[in-house]
Amino acid sequence: MYGLVNKAVVDLVVSKFGQDTWDAIKKKAEVDIDVFVSMEGYPDDITYRLVGAASEVLKIPPEKVLEAFGEYWVLYTAKEGYGPMLDASGKSLREFLENLDALHARVALTMSELKPPRFRLVPVDDSTMMLEYHSTRQGLAPMVVGLLRGLSIRFDTPIDIAHARREGHDEFTIKTTQPS
Ligand code: HEM
Repeated sequence: MYGLVNKAVVDLVVSKFGQDTWDAIKKKAEVDIDVFVSMEGYPDDITYRLVGAASEVLKIPPEKVLEAFGEYWVLYTAKEGYGPMLDASGKSLREFLENLDALHARVALTMSELKPPRFRLVPVDDSTMMLEYHSTRQGLAPMVVGLLRGLSIRFDTPIDIAHARREGHDEFTIKTTQPS
């Protein structure tokens, strides 16, 4: 994955737990890279190892690491220069979720090796939608839960999330708990 992702992992850990914790995670992950370059591609394995090591060092399940990371990603991309792109992707949670593929297509204009996820939003009723998530990668569904939490905060739209399907591809049922 592009270095931007690994940089966000570093930023999250260092801001929340400090440099020493990051050094311990890096050591456990056997990752010998001091500075990730945002626009450079790195093997996915590095990201997975960092998540696994963070889980061990912080003593929280890897799923919770991915969730925290997903939530943080919404803030991190905004502060790393992608704010205007986020702003242009929707004025409501529903509109934004409809535009996720277009958002990644725009990212891919500058990251030509991007292997983006694919999403499909299916409206169910006024307060319920179903989000299909397709990826070439394994095990990142908890990150989507975190991303949805981050977006719920961004749009000030409280939601309940249910991981409704795990086989083949993942699906999430999203219920807004107040009108959006
Ligand atoms: C401007 C904001 C965003 C940028 C710049 C961005 C960029 C990226 C990049 C660089 C990757 C790594 C993929 C690769 O290197 O091949 C990625 C992966 C991913 N993105 Fe985004 N993204 C953004 C917003 C979002 C949002 C809001 C979601 C919400 C659902 C999302 C969902 C994902 C997921 C789930 C992955 C993991 C890859 C996979 O499933 O295969 N992204 N994105």
